[in-house]
Amino acid sequence: MANILLFIGAALIGSVIAEVTVMQASDPKVDWSGRRVVDGGTVNFDWLGVTARLTVTGGTYVIATINTTQLRGTRMRVWISDQGFDLYPQVQLWVTKILNRHILFTGSVGNKRLITLSNIVPPQYGTGITKVVSFETDGTFVSTPPQTRRIEVIGDSITAATNVVRPSGAPHCGDAGYQSDWSQTYSALLCQRFGASCSTIAVGGKCIMKECHGLQMPDYFVSTYYHDAPKPTYPFATSGWAPDAMIINLGTNDMRVIKTPDSAMGKQFTAETIAFMKNAVKLYQSNITFFLTTGPMENTTMPLTKAAVEQGTQEGLKVHWIDMRTACVDARLHAPDDEDGCDGCAGHPGIEGHYGMYLAAEPVIANVMGWNNTSL
Ligand SMILES: *[C@@H]1O[C@H](CO)[C@@H](O)[C@H](O)[C@H]1NC(C)=O
Ligand SMILES: *[C@@H]1O[C@H](CO)[C@@H](O)[C@H](O)[C@H]1NC(C)=O
Ligand SMILES: *[C@@H]1O[C@H](CO)[C@@H](O)[C@H](O)[C@H]1NC(C)=O
Ligand SMILES: *[C@@H]1O[C@H](CO)[C@@H](O)[C@H](O)[C@H]1NC(C)=O
Repeated sequence: MANILLFIGAALIGSVIAEVTVMQASDPKVDWSGRRVVDGGTVNFDWLGVTARLTVTGGTYVIATINTTQLRGTRMRVWISDQGFDLYPQVQLWVTKILNRHILFTGSVGNKRLITLSNIVPPQYGTGITKVVSFETDGTFVSTPPQTRRIEVIGDSITAATNVVRPSGAPHCGDAGYQSDWSQTYSALLCQRFGASCSTIAVGGKCIMKECHGLQMPDYFVSTYYHDAPKPTYPFATSGWAPDAMIINLGTNDMRVIKTPDSAMGKQFTAETIAFMKNAVKLYQSNITFFLTTGPMENTTMPLTKAAVEQGTQEGLKVHWIDMRTACVDARLHAPDDEDGCDGCAGHPGIEGHYGMYLAAEPVIANVMGWNNTSL
């Protein structure tokens, strides 16, 4: 025993004793994006896509201390990069009610590494409210410059990453949150491509139209947390954040009440889409550039969405159209008879479908926003 203690003592004296730094999650050195609440040093959120970016120099590990309010919990994905962009997805964490210390990275941090931690499951699957308490390293945390481009994405199950990751060989599958992965959606690809600070507000099964009954996307849009809706809890004017670009991918579920595009309900869809955009401009007090999309799960709403672009423009909105109609048909499908309609689960776009949506959106947004330079 004495020998062992002597040995440890000698080892400690003989080497530089690494100092451990614990940084609160709310530390200004961390660049956060997405809707969140700072509670003391803890950062709380439940919308998918909420992301923390932290930079560390030297040392051998980075740990995050996280829990959620629900046992079921959420999953988060971690990228490590020394290249200035998200390089390789490194780790996927299952965050639960138990306050765990999750290893984000082990190895030699080296000169400088950027660590990106994103919430990839939408809140409707009982994720609870995630609480990131702190980050810890034996290196040094340095400030991560904030991303200056800002995007908000509003949508239904497609945007909520529902059914994206189809298990290989599955004859059919339906999401219960297990197939969700925001990081492989068109939104995440756009955020990465443009180096943007992003917010994603998306709920499966939802419409833009109140005629769908129950809470719809205009109700969720005003909420800090999913369960707040329809209480308008998000502090738009004082949040210090407003999107430059807002992508709205809705209509698939509105078809339940539209039925045929030349109906009165079709006109109503156009009117409520314009009203949504005007409300967003008013709430954020910012002349947002909107991108309305069509497809890939249905195309029937196309003329109604195009009408919203035309009328919205006449009424002073900055609004453009993105054609995502072929993202599903362009993807490699899994059923021999293509009965699923798209490459994810239950007819939803999967990894290729989302990539197709990204390919459709990227040039339009790059050109309109002047974000076409690759050097960020
Ligand atoms: C999560 O951790 C926080 C901070 O330690 C703690 O206050 C809270 O009770 C924990 N939540 C649950 C559900 O255990
Ligand atoms: C949508 O339109 C595209 C392009 O015309 C077509 O290939 C695709 O099959 C359509 N999808 C649906 C669901 O109707
Ligand atoms: C917003 O931008 C559009 C297009 O540039 C312009 O026509 C409109 O007047 C602007 N609105 C406000 C309130 O600045
Ligand atoms: C980038 O976008 C701007 C604004 O739309 C446009 O004027 C310019 O020609 C584009 N540059 C390239 C290289 O595509």
